[in-house]
Amino acid sequence: MPRAFRGCTRILHGGDYNPDQWLDTPSIIDDDFKFMEMAKCNTFSVGIFSWSALEPEEGKFTFGWLDDIMDRCARDGRKVFLATPTGAKPPWMARKYPECRRVNAELRRDEYMTRHNFCFSSPVAREKTEKIDSLLAERYAGHPALLGWHISNELSGECFCPLCQERFREFLKRRFGTIEELDRRLWAGFWSHRFTSFDEINPLDGTLEGIRVEWKRFCTWQMCDWLAFEKSVVRRYSDAPVTTNMMGLHRDIDYYELGKVCDFISDDCYPMWYSGDEHSMGARFSMLHDMHYAMKDKPFIMMESAPGTPNYREYSHMRRPGELAREMLLAIGHGADGTMYFQWRKGRGGIEKFHGAVVGHDNSPDSYMFRQVAEYGSHLDGLKEIVGSRKVQDVAVLFDWDCHWSSELDFTHNVKNVRGAALAHYAALWEENHQLAVIQSEADFSKYRVVVAPMLFMLKPGVIGRLEKFAKKGGTVVVTHQFGYVNEDSMVLNPREISSLTGVVVDDIDCMEPPRQQSASFNGKSIQVGGVAEYVRVIDADVLGVFEHDFLEDMPAITRRQVGKGTVWYLAANFGPAGLIQGMGDVIDCKYHGGKFDLDDLRYVYKTMFFADCIVPRFCGLPEDVKVSERRTDSARYLFFYNFGEKQQKFDPCAKGTDLWSGAKVSGKLTLPPRGCAVLKTDLD
Ligand code: GLA
Ligand code: ZN
Repeated sequence: MPRAFRGCTRILHGGDYNPDQWLDTPSIIDDDFKFMEMAKCNTFSVGIFSWSALEPEEGKFTFGWLDDIMDRCARDGRKVFLATPTGAKPPWMARKYPECRRVNAELRRDEYMTRHNFCFSSPVAREKTEKIDSLLAERYAGHPALLGWHISNELSGECFCPLCQERFREFLKRRFGTIEELDRRLWAGFWSHRFTSFDEINPLDGTLEGIRVEWKRFCTWQMCDWLAFEKSVVRRYSDAPVTTNMMGLHRDIDYYELGKVCDFISDDCYPMWYSGDEHSMGARFSMLHDMHYAMKDKPFIMMESAPGTPNYREYSHMRRPGELAREMLLAIGHGADGTMYFQWRKGRGGIEKFHGAVVGHDNSPDSYMFRQVAEYGSHLDGLKEIVGSRKVQDVAVLFDWDCHWSSELDFTHNVKNVRGAALAHYAALWEENHQLAVIQSEADFSKYRVVVAPMLFMLKPGVIGRLEKFAKKGGTVVVTHQFGYVNEDSMVLNPREISSLTGVVVDDIDCMEPPRQQSASFNGKSIQVGGVAEYVRVIDADVLGVFEHDFLEDMPAITRRQVGKGTVWYLAANFGPAGLIQGMGDVIDCKYHGGKFDLDDLRYVYKTMFFADCIVPRFCGLPEDVKVSERRTDSARYLFFYNFGEKQQKFDPCAKGTDLWSGAKVSGKLTLPPRGCAVLKTDLD
């Protein structure tokens, strides 16, 4: 069984718990432990921002309150992801040791404020961290409540202090060896940038975007290095599994790299339901889950989600009845073995006091959200057998962080938003109920039936050959516009090299600002082009779709090439609505402001391509608002059905068995209430 980690034997349910904010009202902490039982919460992340409670003055440690919390958890059979407190430093440290504060892009040292703001290079920050992490690890290593280590919190950010810049130059030396090699590979002749020493490199200069990409890689490396450092400290005393919480498709962090340092993957997830477009929200968060599962090919933990509304959105909708359970089951159906919340209890002060929580300001189990959580919690015993089952993944969507950076840092706006393209293709396939994975281009393709490369702008060495090999063995490869424009140093590739895979050469790209439009005719339908269309010359491929307007009229828009036993498709345009490519990145960052996410044309393109390649979806004929994800073991299938609509749905699930959610036997039609779910356990086919 692929467990998230060895001790993960039940579905984890709980959340961030900050008793350190309530130490002067012990009755509240007593209530917490009563309510935890009522909500069926079994696991808590404790101590995330507790440094000033653990070390109120330099060298003076107070662990008594944490001993008490750990003991009470153990007494009640609850488990703890114990945090190292480096998510926020205490004020005394910032005042006494200014070097641990970051230097911003204006090259000014930050004042003490907010959180997530250590300079990762600061020797003092490391020394203080080593001290407190060692004390925590030594003290709690053998504690019966300890389940794992939650290192820091949402590692992120950059620092331009002299120490960090020095480390960046060392990083460049390791990657390039000599300055001459860097000059050659990053095209330093441009605007007279030939460097004679690594000391001349300014990480803020975007002239050579290769250097900016290296800076992004460096920032990820620094976070990995920091995580590995904290991990090595706790490892001296404890072999409990280690994680740090990720933030989805974060603009600046290559989570594939950070994931390698973690023993299991955990992430923070904040969808905004009831936005008028539940499908795109469902697709977006399924995409993140499918990426987190694929990172280690085993279950992950959804470490944070909001019971209620996050406080920082311009418009936050209250959760409609059923939405919380659907969101949790969406994660479980896509491979999570735990769903946890930020936060257990609402604080009375601070900028998150109105952030959703299990326990509200009324301090009672009667509130609307508490009841929703308790209702979900009451079902978890019935779902226990799902823990450790595999997530079915047939179609892989490629997404690389450095590809996204390279395209974003480029000056021309024709080549932006790799994340948006990946999401659009993912969503079109999700709508058709394909079982998906999201992987980096360096991952193994062999376990999938189809590999889709949406806007794979940056091509890493060997990817063309591996895609070709995959196709030769019978796989279907779908490659889209802006494929392979640059190599991993952001240097342009000769488009003819790409044609060895696609059979086409791209001469240039036409960018359409609204209201200018383009479309392509494909299998009897006119397909809208949003944003970009390429001028393509065919070397060795069949033209199956052509553009319909302007000077591109009758030029190739969709081609197919037989490669061994498989095929390679080339989509020479964005077949989503105009604006999709520009807007989607922000959507992923949760700054969603409404608007329909129309994927009908892209869905049609996929249906047609898959029909031609005899790829049959596992699930057909379901109502449009019903989506399904599948997990399985060697003896059973678990089909998670979700209703993303506001109406009841009654349909034939094409399977018989037991609905583990409702407990009902299912032999004919399945009925889902508005926003409802079912978890159908059925025999293997
Ligand atoms: C993040 C953090 C939490 C909290 C939530 C609010 O995920 O990890 O500490 O700030 O956001 O949504
Ligand atoms: Zn620094």
